[in-house]
Amino acid sequence: MTLTFLGIESSCDDTAAAVVCGDRRILSSVVAGQTALHADYGGVVPEIAARAHAEKLDLCVEAALGESGLTLRDIDGIAVTAGPGLIGGVMSGVMLAKGLAAGAGLPLVGVNHLAGHALTPRLTDGIGYPYLMLLVSGGHCQFLRVDGPDGFTRLGGTIDDAPGEAFDKVAKLLGLPQPGGPAVEAEARDGDPKRFTLPRPLLDRAGCDMSFSGLKTAVLRARDDLVATQGGLTHQDRADLCAGFQAAVADVLAEKTRRALSAQPVPVLAVAGGVAANGAIRAALEAVAAEAGARFLAPPLKLCTDNAAMIAWAGIEAFRLGQRDGMDLAARPRWPLDQKATPMLGAGKRGAKA
Ligand code: KG4
Ligand code: ZN
Repeated sequence: MTLTFLGIESSCDDTAAAVVCGDRRILSSVVAGQTALHADYGGVVPEIAARAHAEKLDLCVEAALGESGLTLRDIDGIAVTAGPGLIGGVMSGVMLAKGLAAGAGLPLVGVNHLAGHALTPRLTDGIGYPYLMLLVSGGHCQFLRVDGPDGFTRLGGTIDDAPGEAFDKVAKLLGLPQPGGPAVEAEARDGDPKRFTLPRPLLDRAGCDMSFSGLKTAVLRARDDLVATQGGLTHQDRADLCAGFQAAVADVLAEKTRRALSAQPVPVLAVAGGVAANGAIRAALEAVAAEAGARFLAPPLKLCTDNAAMIAWAGIEAFRLGQRDGMDLAARPRWPLDQKATPMLGAGKRGAKA
């Protein structure tokens, strides 16, 4: 009999619930975003996020069950994001999941949010292990070799900002709207990526670690120079800065991916996270995968970004391995997937990077 799980996600600024089956069918996936609530603050405010999650979670669960045509009686287990993330939001989700599991007498499985992202290509495309996952979003940036539902090896990641965070900050300093990624990409279309000389941070250092904070500062300096010399930015200046910045991010991600694939010659390169929506970055990664003879996989955007279907799926995979959590399941602000890897420092505005 195939398993059917309810998934719950509330670790950042999206409240989400989904019903997913062990045969990879997604019966429903409901996501309630909070962009408008945080718009005035230039980033996610943890307290506002936690309150919004607490208000929306049960409605999302109700909607997800409703859309799936099932009731709790038809569900085999409840999977919930237990970290890493903004702790107030994670706690709201974990408390609700515990209540539902206790009330309905269902097994509870605590899921690592990053495992949710990392296992998504198995849900969307049914690929086998092992594969290489590049997670690039507003809060995450890391390479993972995935060997199983709990077999993650971290090959490298950002030592400061996540790339999406850098896109958001660059948009802000150029007066473009949030979220910055799509705005910068649109602006870059009319730009010359070669006009400004921007750094490719950490390419001179061996390995797969990355850095994006200096790149953002370089854009800030170039902007300030233009303002000092000509009193402001023309449309073309802004487009050229966006194109230059985007090309630098794409170059860094491509070169580090090349190294990761050569160290771990696996058959598939998969990407997840909002930044994977960027056409230039996607094309650069696709080319690197082709060079290495690997298949390139980018799940559909709504499953690349935060959602609960990935949590339900990761819960099913963990449940099959025998994972069961009790009422003592803890919400964890930090929770590295690869316990052997050296901990990364720094938490950006989008929460812990783990
Ligand atoms: O995965 P996601 O929805 O949320 C988390 O951060 O977990 O990713 C959102 C991030 C934002 O920083 C946004 O600016 C970035 O992904 N993003 C993009 C694009 N679309 C979204 N970055 C570059 N190019 C894009 N087209
Ligand atoms: Zn995420």
